[in-house]
Amino acid sequence: VKADHIEWTAGHTLRMLDQRRLPNEEVWVEARTYGDVADAIRSMVVRGAPLIGIAAAFGLAMAAQAGDELGHADEVLRATRPTAVNLGWALDRMLGVARSGASPERLLEEAERIASEDAAAAKRMSELGADLLPDSGGVLTHCNAGALAMLEYGSAVGVIRAAHEHGKQINVLVDETRPFLQGARLTAWELQKLGIPMTLITDSMAGHFMSRGAVQAVVTGADRIAANGDTANKIGTYSLAVLAKENGIPFYIAAPTSTLDLSCSDGAHIPIEERSVEEVVSIGGVRIAPEGVHAAHPAFDVTPARYIAAIITEAGIARPPFQGALAQLIQSVSLSLLERE
Ligand code: MRU
Repeated sequence: VKADHIEWTAGHTLRMLDQRRLPNEEVWVEARTYGDVADAIRSMVVRGAPLIGIAAAFGLAMAAQAGDELGHADEVLRATRPTAVNLGWALDRMLGVARSGASPERLLEEAERIASEDAAAAKRMSELGADLLPDSGGVLTHCNAGALAMLEYGSAVGVIRAAHEHGKQINVLVDETRPFLQGARLTAWELQKLGIPMTLITDSMAGHFMSRGAVQAVVTGADRIAANGDTANKIGTYSLAVLAKENGIPFYIAAPTSTLDLSCSDGAHIPIEERSVEEVVSIGGVRIAPEGVHAAHPAFDVTPARYIAAIITEAGIARPPFQGALAQLIQSVSLSLLERE
């Protein structure tokens, strides 16, 4: 893999653009062991469900090359970010290959394969989703589901980017996304580089702009989609979906099929990652709340399927009722994989 934000080098290191320091500094972090990769995922050097999966896959390949115990490496990597199902999905796939007696080189090849499939999925879902967006108007997005969170176009930002490239006159409303500010720091940075018109807003402004007719669609990514369509994504997504429904605005999810977790029957079964309250009581290292105050930090919330107009994947667009539609998408992906082999 060789992208603007993640790269596997001939020297057998995984280089990752440190997303904690964007947009102010472009600094790369190098991982030489699976433990380094786990640290990078846990500390948000790399983030975004699909990118977490790719990094973990390389982490497991590194463990194999170093002769480390794979079961332990898997455990350590898997525990880093519990909501992003792409993490477990990528590790399961790597372990499956390892169990068939594959060499460390073959595991590395599998990690590369996961990365290139992810890039292709991003392109494909962006193209498919672009048709759903209006020819002109405002599209609101939350967190960062762009190139930084995946490869190529990303998911939700990819859909917007493809629509923009097709000549649609879209202004993107970017939620700053407290507490970690992925919208303000990352999505705004990406859109600015791409030259896509954008307005940065605080999370609390979304309802105001929706009620004044400035938003024609909402599109976000996902960290885990249950069999019935309930979707976990960055904290604050649920409120947006409810506001969108109230204002008659379609709410779309864009995610690769690797984010679907059909073993989870509904959103109540999706594990929600709790992160340090340090990210809540301070911004950019500056404390904003009194010392000793009690705070909470669930990093994700679940949007019930009834608020979602469509789920855009590389294998097609699912519409409600999602139960059968999502199962069908997964089936079509497995079939096309079988055909290729
Ligand atoms: O905590 P983060 O920054 O990893 O959260 C990311 C999101 O919520 C994204 O929307 C999701 O992972 C999809 S990224 C294509």
